[in-house]
Amino acid sequence: MIIAGSDSSGGAGIQADIKTVTALGSYAMTAITAVTIQNTTGVKAIVTIDSNEISNQIEFTAKDIKPDAIKIGMLHSSKVIKSVIRSLDIIKVKKIILDPVMIAKGGAKLINDKAVELLKNELIQKVSLITPNIPEAEILTGTKIKTKEDMIYAANVLIGLGAKNVFIKGGHLETNAVQDIFVNKKEIMIIKNRRIATSNTHGTGCTLSSAISTFFSCGKTLKKSCELATKYVNNSIRSNLNYGKGYGPINHLSSITVDKKLR
Ligand SMILES: Nc1ncnc2c1ncn2[C@@H]1O[C@H](COP(=O)(O)OP(=O)(O)OP(=O)(O)O)[C@@H](O)[C@H]1O
Ligand SMILES: [Mg+2]
Repeated sequence: MIIAGSDSSGGAGIQADIKTVTALGSYAMTAITAVTIQNTTGVKAIVTIDSNEISNQIEFTAKDIKPDAIKIGMLHSSKVIKSVIRSLDIIKVKKIILDPVMIAKGGAKLINDKAVELLKNELIQKVSLITPNIPEAEILTGTKIKTKEDMIYAANVLIGLGAKNVFIKGGHLETNAVQDIFVNKKEIMIIKNRRIATSNTHGTGCTLSSAISTFFSCGKTLKKSCELATKYVNNSIRSNLNYGKGYGPINHLSSITVDKKLR
């Protein structure tokens, strides 16, 4: 089950999440938290969904088909975060991945300050893994991140705040190789990939957290799920679709070959 916002351009948000889960062979259900009006050049407007209706989607859907895992994306206000926490307590799903989405690729702010505090103090402790990008990790920890060592330090600050597992995405650091890190109390894993020179990286973060959730829901360990998900995202960026005039989408179908009969 995906709890997140809709991206009308199809490259990020719920649309990216559904494509990812589907392309990796699983079944996606959704609870939509907001409708964003955007294209690859930026966000024009955000229409929020009433927090009771978000809870209604989560609880009614899960009552029928119990999710094997939950991926949480955009939660724009403290009211929404509180409702989601309440619903999570009711449906009792153990595997939860939180992508603490705060700023869209074009720079639009997707969450308010009070909500950031609530995320930090009440939600990150309840989930299996959080997947902030560099700016989000900086906001959540109050640290500056310029190097891999800074990333590890910030991840440990998040562990100190009660996060069980932390995955910090290195896409925003201007290094030759992209380095993502997975940290918990027992281990540190660094995943290094060649940086692909492209501006078509809209939705990489949403895609990554949905891919992790899918592998995790199917019984892989969290660590293995993170490794496989970064591979999938890397392949999807490499396809370089080049749609739109701004930050274009990645190719979610990079894992799929079309049956000959359907060509
Ligand atoms: N140019 C690139 N080449 C290769 N991998 C990349 C590139 N940019 C991002 N990635 C990978 O994509 C994943 C998502 O990282 P990123 O830092 O872009 O997340 P994000 O900022 O949350 O994305 P979003 O814009 O969707 O919110 C990470 O695994 C990262 O290493
Ligand atoms: Mg993101």
